[in-house]
Amino acid sequence: MDKFIINGGKPLEGTVYIGGAKNAVLPAIAASLLASGISTISNAPQLRDVSTMCHLLRSLGAQIVFKDGVLTIDTANVNSFEAPYDIVKTMRASVYVLGPLIARFGKVLVSLPGGCAWGPRPIDLHLFGIKKLGAAISLDKGYINAAADTLHGAEIAFAKSSVGATGNVLMAAVTAKGKTVIRNAAVEPEITSLTENLVKMGAHIEGIGTSSLKISGVTSLEPLHTTVIPDRIEAGTFMAAGAIAGGKIILKNAEPSHLSAVIEKMRAAGISVKVGEEIIVESDGNILPADVLTDIYPGFPTDLQAQWIALMSVAKGNTVVEDTIFFDRFTHVAELNRLGADINVEANKAYIKGVDELKGAHVMSTDLRASASLILAGLRAKNQTEVHRIYHIDRGYESIEKKLQALGASIRRAPE
Ligand code: EPZ
Repeated sequence: MDKFIINGGKPLEGTVYIGGAKNAVLPAIAASLLASGISTISNAPQLRDVSTMCHLLRSLGAQIVFKDGVLTIDTANVNSFEAPYDIVKTMRASVYVLGPLIARFGKVLVSLPGGCAWGPRPIDLHLFGIKKLGAAISLDKGYINAAADTLHGAEIAFAKSSVGATGNVLMAAVTAKGKTVIRNAAVEPEITSLTENLVKMGAHIEGIGTSSLKISGVTSLEPLHTTVIPDRIEAGTFMAAGAIAGGKIILKNAEPSHLSAVIEKMRAAGISVKVGEEIIVESDGNILPADVLTDIYPGFPTDLQAQWIALMSVAKGNTVVEDTIFFDRFTHVAELNRLGADINVEANKAYIKGVDELKGAHVMSTDLRASASLILAGLRAKNQTEVHRIYHIDRGYESIEKKLQALGASIRRAPE
């Protein structure tokens, strides 16, 4: 296992290139299963989660080459329908094969994802939707067994907005017989991108970008050829890095329209954010307190909650951050307090008292976005911070230390 060694207190200057979105490339890879043949996905980020999804598809019989940011996936010989526990337990997004496999083969065996560092991650909404489309579902030894001779269109109203469940049901519905309506569909950019990708494959979908999607089933689909949208969470993370460290950074290849809520909050915190072809973040390191309530898109994303708490830990005043999506996603707080932050969590709210300075220490990553928040705090903290178990960060950020080094940060990867 590796760790990061960070010497804090250095302002950041320079340009960072934002990569393709993890949460868009993963469903795109799964969608390639819907058609037999060779799909190509460009601007694909080199992430551990992408490798895991490719490992899963290879275990199903697909051939995959990943070269120069392009994934070439041949699904002609896919002949297995099981997403095994040892893969699903490492990455919940493996569940995205549920919809495509039952659509193409009429059967699938997917391990229940179990929990993650911050509590249970149910898939009841996924199963509710697939069942409405006609699948028979049983649970046996921790595996979901789903089967359907044919899938038929249905009215599916989600009681709760779910990115994954919307994605899975979309991929199952595109070749179901007849019309499907999905109400309260997720409208995150990654799901809108999936919808556009399915249309590129020949699907008939109306209401793209809205929470009410109408799908008319088609008999077959063509392989996918697409380019991954920019990663708004990577972009938001680097914006927070520029804010907490101070200095001036330029983000290229980001998509500002996916970051409105984040840009608004950054400005409320006294950070200069200029938006044009690129996003320019300028900060003197003085942070104003700005409360955040996470919400579904276009609200403030839960995936930037940990990073925001790190930023607010050195604000000139007190802040409340409430996560309405994941109520227990606060494992980063105890580690931030080891760096001198003054944060209290009650239920799904973090009460942050801004401190004048953070002091370097050894801290431990517990999950992907928590790791990012510890790196941000390390960039600010006096002296040296060591962030341990950074395999978590490699799941969702491509060479984050190299990108930060290019901005002048003193951060290096070292064996534990
Ligand atoms: C996606 O997870 C993202 N992952 C998450 O990003 C992100 O935090 C989340 O959406 C919310 O935006 C990927 O896209 C691979 P949900 P997902 O279904 O689909 C509950 C990261 O850091 N729920 O929208 O699992 C659920 O517990 C990751 O990149 C059910 O109750 O999220 C949560 O409270 C972390 N039943 C809420 O809905 C279900 O069947 C939203 O979850 C499904 C979800």
